[in-house]
Amino acid sequence: MCGIIGISSHKSVSGNIISSLKKLEYRGYDSAGLATLYNGEINEVKSKGRVDELEQNFNLKDLKGNVGIGHVRWATHGIPNSVNAHPHSSENVSIVHNGIIENSTILKKFLINKGHKFKSQTDTEVIVHLITENLKELELEGAITKTLKQLHGSFALGIVFKDLPDLIVGARRGSPLAVGYGPNENYLGSDSYALKSMTNKISYLEDGEFCIIKKDHVSFFNDEGKKINKKILELSSNEKVYDKGDFKHFMAKEIEEQPITLKTGIKEYVDSINEDINIINFPWNINDIKSITLVGCGTAYHSCLMAKYWFEELTSLDVNIDIASEFRYRKNRFKSENLYIFVSQSGETADTYAALDLCKKNNMKTCAVVNVIESSIARDANFVLPIHCGPEIGVASTKAFLGQILILYILSLKLGYLKKDIKTEDYKKKIKELKNLPKLVEQTLLIDNEIQAISSTFNEAKGSMFLGRGFSFPIALEGALKLKELSYVHAEGYPAGEMKHGPLALIEEGMPVVVLAPRDNYYKKTISNMQEVIARGARVLLITNKSKDEVFSENVWEKIEVENTNDDLLPFLLTIPLQKLAYYSALKMGYDIDKPRNLAKSVTVE
Ligand code: M6R
Repeated sequence: MCGIIGISSHKSVSGNIISSLKKLEYRGYDSAGLATLYNGEINEVKSKGRVDELEQNFNLKDLKGNVGIGHVRWATHGIPNSVNAHPHSSENVSIVHNGIIENSTILKKFLINKGHKFKSQTDTEVIVHLITENLKELELEGAITKTLKQLHGSFALGIVFKDLPDLIVGARRGSPLAVGYGPNENYLGSDSYALKSMTNKISYLEDGEFCIIKKDHVSFFNDEGKKINKKILELSSNEKVYDKGDFKHFMAKEIEEQPITLKTGIKEYVDSINEDINIINFPWNINDIKSITLVGCGTAYHSCLMAKYWFEELTSLDVNIDIASEFRYRKNRFKSENLYIFVSQSGETADTYAALDLCKKNNMKTCAVVNVIESSIARDANFVLPIHCGPEIGVASTKAFLGQILILYILSLKLGYLKKDIKTEDYKKKIKELKNLPKLVEQTLLIDNEIQAISSTFNEAKGSMFLGRGFSFPIALEGALKLKELSYVHAEGYPAGEMKHGPLALIEEGMPVVVLAPRDNYYKKTISNMQEVIARGARVLLITNKSKDEVFSENVWEKIEVENTNDDLLPFLLTIPLQKLAYYSALKMGYDIDKPRNLAKSVTVE
């Protein structure tokens, strides 16, 4: 999704802007650009496609200037082309923008009546002209304060001015924005990750605030244009270089890293000696929590659904789950005895953040299960449970999913134990079995050959289905999401018991259907549902767990057996073949696996 970088320095900035934009590439984007101030002019270059193409299309070494802004764009208003790419500039002002301006149509009319000419189809261009207009009668701080008040929607902005050649203005509402401090230069970035290679000293803008960045000084202002002070935070500087190693794609590497993700999570939260779970500094009395609401988007939502099954199984808590984009606009009955848990890999997903913000404004108990601990969601929640899976670069979430469900499982076990909903011996037994999970995932990862052979059937089909019941249902949804986002093949996830109520009509001769039927409480029921789809011509790929008992697999097209463990932990193992199925299908089609079309890693617009 869109990313911003800005540098005000004592030396030329275009090289560092380009390398920072490359750091933002993992977010997913469709065009890129930058603008520098030099010799009393705004020099703007931009093009469709990747940052590499921008470098090929322009001689960026000749792009002089000690102050500049750069952007990678993920199209919202207007197709991805070089005209709609950012920066957008008037004669005096140049802007990069993340977010959406909801009243752009009204503002555009107003500005056209004032004589402003528009070049692009974007909502961003109105900001350029609005500031230009306001600067006619106000000095810088006043013009910015007035402009921000006129904008509806969400934004993170980086702005440079032809007549103010030593500074960059940054402003935030809704979309995150960070300021970095370096030697003889200061920075603006849409996330601290983009700035990490240059500095570990960071301040974050809050909603409504703006800043003026010069090479040797940064000032901050509130939404009334009054100067405010900001804390400088020091980020951990132990960032290791994260590359693909010997893997063809980040996704392949991240799938294989899952045993490490689990080992790290278990090490962090499980006290192996006492067979107990440590959730240090949990800020509430357990008796004050009667119910839980879990909120997320996409894969993170599937983690919430998975957790619902565990919380209901292991605790007496009432459990609700919600998709963040729905939660934030519904009439929620906020309850003080409810714990709101926000699940997100990036910690920057706009809808999830807005849902958290809503809870905060209603003084609710909030907890974040996140990967990026410097993220907005992590910073703003009352309590954070990091998943510690390291950077996840592939747009398709894999190790973060296993990391999220691990933490949620651990939390459900601990709360169940504290609430005396599970017996001590069961609690200890489950912890013991959990410690063995990384090993079982490692063994399950060795299924490449079987999966590779099957995967092309899914590409060749018109559509496919993923079925599961109970603990396997969220995994069926996740498997379908992985296949559709990577292979661009229609894939539906369904509770197997729901087929007769409509979806069975879709089954036709040869349609590939994945049935998740581990030997748990639902096994026999799922096998019956499987026979119903086989009877209608489906080619069933049955995924179950290893067992002494022969599986009832008559007329099954293919069968894959994952390792064996207790019912709670089987979802972890069932996920692995589905991730690999999606990976190999996309690989056969020659698709851009780490950056699937139209998608972004960090979804910072709603
Ligand atoms: O960063 P988040 O976990 O909040 O992201 C949520 C979704 O955008 C994300 O899980 C998305 O669905 C993935 N592309 C799925 O693989």
